Amino acid sequence: MPSPKTAPAATLVIFGATGDLARRLLVPALANLCADGLIGDDLQIIGIGSREGTDEDLRAGLDEFAPKSECWQGLRGRISYLQGDFTKPEVFEALKSKANGNVVFYLATPAQYFGPIVESLAKAGLMDEAKGAFRRVAVEKPFGHDLASARALNRQILSAVDEAQVYRIDHFLGKETVQNIMVARFANPWLEAVWNNRYIDSVQITAAEAIDVGTRGAFYDATGALRDMVPNHLFQLMALVGMEPPNELSADAIRTEKAKVLTAVRKTTPAEARENGARGQYQGYRKTADVDPKSEVETYVALKLWIDSWRWAGVPFYLRTGKALKARDTEIVVTFKPVPLALFRDTQVADLPPNRLILQLQPNEGIKLDFMVKKPGPKMQAVPVALDFNYADQFKIGGRTGYETLLYDMLMGDQTLFQRADQIEAGWAAVQPFLDLWSKGKGKVESYKRGSDGPKAAAELIGRDGREWHDIA
Ligand code: BG6
Repeated sequence: MPSPKTAPAATLVIFGATGDLARRLLVPALANLCADGLIGDDLQIIGIGSREGTDEDLRAGLDEFAPKSECWQGLRGRISYLQGDFTKPEVFEALKSKANGNVVFYLATPAQYFGPIVESLAKAGLMDEAKGAFRRVAVEKPFGHDLASARALNRQILSAVDEAQVYRIDHFLGKETVQNIMVARFANPWLEAVWNNRYIDSVQITAAEAIDVGTRGAFYDATGALRDMVPNHLFQLMALVGMEPPNELSADAIRTEKAKVLTAVRKTTPAEARENGARGQYQGYRKTADVDPKSEVETYVALKLWIDSWRWAGVPFYLRTGKALKARDTEIVVTFKPVPLALFRDTQVADLPPNRLILQLQPNEGIKLDFMVKKPGPKMQAVPVALDFNYADQFKIGGRTGYETLLYDMLMGDQTLFQRADQIEAGWAAVQPFLDLWSKGKGKVESYKRGSDGPKAAAELIGRDGREWHDIA
């Protein structure tokens, strides 16, 4: 395989350059890209913020999470600061003389500014690609807060720029192990051969976090676990698990297959939304700074969904995510159907646990297959063992933020790992029935202990189907 090329000369303009995202993730990712030779000395960075300050103030602010490396020193010297209010036209006028040639505009701002900034960029002629240089805009999450607002934001953005210029970020797609889902499925024919409703009983997708809401009270209390994690991160995982093999590895072919999975999610009726959704809130959440002391916002959510496609008809997808749980654990668990008949004397079918494939996305990235073998001894006894692959045993994967790939792909013009408008809207459409039910004050938010597995309602949701959640560990 040829090694990846260095990205072309460009300017990266970061709106909200003094914020956490730029400091903690974008800057370390850029330094890593430089260390790998994937960006060169011809990448300029302009940071835009509302505070008074100099170039040196911005650089010093960005030092904290940057590696102490030559690469960072080089990049640092190419960062300049533009102070301005991005709700006013002046800052866009000022950008005209500063941002020439290829430009990526990165919107690391609060979500309410996404639409207006894109409109102002277009109005100032900054998104014009007529001169042959590329002009792209990266939009962070949250992309809307429900179906109607996501549609409105797509309309606003797409009336100003072309879909091919828009890079809607879901940082889960930058994670190595998330990208590996496609390779695991499509480069291993034995796996793909059983990847359907004939052999698969159910799929569980979990993003459990041990951390609580921390200092993000204001954002979180207006958002909740469902909006924060499900239509974006968990649905991206579900789409990768559920998609058909694309005809080619182009961005559009892949994104079309993923969108098809999301549009095939069965529309949940209001009665089903009560049955198939469970919510919880960790004890003490209401005492968090900037959180309503009577807040009914969920910090945990579990859903059961169906994908109405030929491949997945009849296979339930159980999704859950929550904060302040007993461990950090992002995983996909695929449970296979039991054997049709136990061929071993004195063994009941029910005594043979099903095969299970666990894609461990974080931490301790790896793939595990629960597999049956004969227990040594005169008796014919089958027991499960694990075929266990750990990424760290084989590859060096530490020290990456996940934003390296995303930033590199934006500079290279590869939209594969970014969400297209139709994917976003299909995602919101699938969760809207739950949001509608809960906005009417229906659907209890059960309190759960910090450091636990989450609310009992989630165990009941899956328990009604005679199944259990895989342990969070
Ligand atoms: C973010 C959410 O998008 O993803 C956070 O807003 C969450 O609430 C985070 O903690 C999880 O990402 P990761 O990469 O830590 O699994």
